[in-house]
Amino acid sequence: MNRFMRVLGVAVLAVVVCLIFILASGTGDSSLASPAPQKSAQDVYLDKCAVCHAKDGSGNTAKGRKVKAKDLRSAEIQKMSDADLIKDVGKGKGKDMDGFEKELGADMVKQLVAYCRSFAKQ
Ligand code: HEC
Repeated sequence: MNRFMRVLGVAVLAVVVCLIFILASGTGDSSLASPAPQKSAQDVYLDKCAVCHAKDGSGNTAKGRKVKAKDLRSAEIQKMSDADLIKDVGKGKGKDMDGFEKELGADMVKQLVAYCRSFAKQ
């Protein structure tokens, strides 16, 4: 094999390696992009919780007043630990609030509790 062929061989090999790398990272990206976009805690709250707790956490909705949904902005709620709030949102509280862990997953429950914290009166 002459020198030119050897250089060409190395060049071809380099191109092939680059292509494999590009293809591999390309599929990596697309597999990340393909699942349905994750809903934010705010979207889920508005969808699942606001009917009772209201957009602002006050519980001031027709349904919220009927079931006596707690005011999530209140000191009573805000002084509770994350662990307790996560448990109550996940497993349910009282006769009127169902647990959401099965439906939404433990991770979303955690995010929802963090979102409820954002209602705290400043
Ligand atoms: C059907 C109405 C209803 C819906 C829907 C609802 N809640 Fe509640 N929630 C209540 C009621 C009623 C209480 C008060 C329960 C009690 O203390 O007996 C409550 C209490 C809470 C509390 C306080 C828990 C505690 O330990 O006192 C938090 C936090 C909370 N809800 C968050 C949520 C989140 C987050 C969602 C949505 C994933 C949600 N709620 C959906 C009715 C509802």
